[in-house]
Amino acid sequence: MTPIFELKDLSVMLHSRRGDKPLVQHVSFCVHAGECLGILGESGSGKTLCMKAAMGLLDHSFHVSGSARFNEEELIGKSAESLRRLRGGKVGIILQNPMTCFDPLYRVGSQIAETFAAHNAWSAEEIRKRSLAMLETMRIHNGKDVLQKYPHQLSGGMLQRIMIGIAMTMAPDLLIADEPTTAIDAITQYEILEEILRIKRKKKTAMVFITHDLSAVSRVADRIVVLNHGKIVDEGDFSHILHHAKDPYTRLLVEKRADVMRRYVSTLAEKGELPCLSCAM
Ligand SMILES: Nc1ncnc2c1ncn2[C@@H]1O[C@H](COP(=O)(O)OP(=O)(O)O)[C@@H](O)[C@H]1O
Ligand SMILES: [Mg+2]
Repeated sequence: MTPIFELKDLSVMLHSRRGDKPLVQHVSFCVHAGECLGILGESGSGKTLCMKAAMGLLDHSFHVSGSARFNEEELIGKSAESLRRLRGGKVGIILQNPMTCFDPLYRVGSQIAETFAAHNAWSAEEIRKRSLAMLETMRIHNGKDVLQKYPHQLSGGMLQRIMIGIAMTMAPDLLIADEPTTAIDAITQYEILEEILRIKRKKKTAMVFITHDLSAVSRVADRIVVLNHGKIVDEGDFSHILHHAKDPYTRLLVEKRADVMRRYVSTLAEKGELPCLSCAM
């Protein structure tokens, strides 16, 4: 089966007066339809740069080499205009902070409409119908009122769900979610992950789920690559990462989580409450 999305030897170099600095080095992975690839790594490990490089979102101070293919088409070197058409169309991108994706000065409804109009030949009536249907699918009630609101009048979780809804309305072949749960509270994080799992079950969308959160990645990803200092240091399914990771950095990530879980379990035990065993990894 041909992968939907494939990086081969992707490298990103930052040019500056002080010289060139390699930020991403020889990263290769692929994602097939219906599969979710998790990219795990601490802040600054190069997760976002990989995606930005592939999707043409870096400025000229960066030099990108290697290959990034989407549906067998090479993206590196493609024109800015065709990459722009791809993003928000066949490739949906969800970013960490939904607040920054909406313009504070315009109503949410008109921003949704603008995105829909940019990628489809839908009438105003059709756009309104699709906007309401999308809110409904994302389990946002009172859709008509929500369309009239400004971004600051909605919660971060709601905006994030709307971002996911907009991306999914375009029926993308590939959905890239870059830390989609990092900027929101724990309860909403849970809901957003549920939403992503629902999409994964129902559609054949290929997904790249970027996170520094081991437990989030364990819930959604079929396979995981671990990035450290711009390089892939481990790769495999969650159980492999948990039990057989070779790289000391990956082991550290796992140990950190295990340590938090141990403290959690012992605190509950001290209080005489029985912890849920499946939570303790
Ligand atoms: N615009 C930029 N200018 C200089 N360095 C950058 C820029 N963007 C990212 N970097 C550097 O590249 C590395 C990887 O960044 P990034 O991909 O954003 O990490 P992650 O998404 O894993 O947190 C970091 O060391 C960061 O400092
Ligand atoms: Mg990032």
